[in-house]
Amino acid sequence: MAEAALGLWTTHGPTLNTSPDQWVNRVKADVAQKHWFKGEELSFDELIERRADERIDEKFTDAERRRRHEACQKAIAELAGRWEAEAPDACIILGNDQRELFLPEIQPTFTIYYGENFYNLPLTDAQRKMLPPGIEEADWAYRPEERTVYPGLPELAEHVFEQATEDGFDTAASAAWPCHENHRHTGTPHAFSFVLRRIMRDRAVPTLPVIANTFYPPNQPTPRRCYEFGRMIGRAVRRWDSNARIAVVGSGGMSHFCIDEELDQRVLEALSARDSQALCAIEPELLRSGSSELLNWIVASGILFETELSGDVIDYVPCYRSDAGTGTANGFVCWN
Ligand SMILES: [Fe+2]
Repeated sequence: MAEAALGLWTTHGPTLNTSPDQWVNRVKADVAQKHWFKGEELSFDELIERRADERIDEKFTDAERRRRHEACQKAIAELAGRWEAEAPDACIILGNDQRELFLPEIQPTFTIYYGENFYNLPLTDAQRKMLPPGIEEADWAYRPEERTVYPGLPELAEHVFEQATEDGFDTAASAAWPCHENHRHTGTPHAFSFVLRRIMRDRAVPTLPVIANTFYPPNQPTPRRCYEFGRMIGRAVRRWDSNARIAVVGSGGMSHFCIDEELDQRVLEALSARDSQALCAIEPELLRSGSSELLNWIVASGILFETELSGDVIDYVPCYRSDAGTGTANGFVCWN
């Protein structure tokens, strides 16, 4: 029986991979669009008014941004260190697609990648030009310097498909990354490549990518469905006749692009208490846009809550960049 040897929940966004000076490059884009906050879609100015009492200005001074950036780098180093110490044989990454693989033509709720391997590669010059402002600087954390092939985990994928069918989950199956002409992305989506680059430090073990559609209506899964989907994957792991020691990584979140510390604390407290009901009770309207990636954390919890593993929050660092509360809240949890 394969067993879980390491559990990680980590954010993966660009604030982790850009300097605190570069964070503010995104503000121009923030001003130009509406943002989801506590179930409402508000303009930048409406958010400033709504959040005036929070004194967010004190949370993104030069010194604060520097301090928070350093805390994030320390936490990532800690996760990578724990990875190295535990040296798992295989990995399941719970991540999402952000219009990297799937376009509106077809958008599966859950996809299991079952290919022998998968690849990642640098962006072309044309793709680089399509990136939104303030994102190109973070690209090093999501893409290798040259085309790189990583090992997949088809043997475990087979068990997941069997278990899913038995348990009433209909999943999409992918054996090669979907690739579109003239698209801004090719290769491994950022939710997965961040883990390969910054946690495994490119020394990849065989990895099973599990892709949830957290972002895009109309077919996002609910928190409860994500939790149960994770439990199903846990059962598949236990029926895999293998000595593999597996790492399980929930990649994404926490609240963004408008930070909601209350939501993030609910999630962190639920993890500490192994409280599945608290996770399943999170209102889907709070999980919009980037915050929806917390669903990846919930799938990982469905696997990890039924293991012997336990551990701590390494850090929680809300990385603000404007009075409207835009930015990304970063969180790091490790169970071993
Ligand atoms: Fe993301």
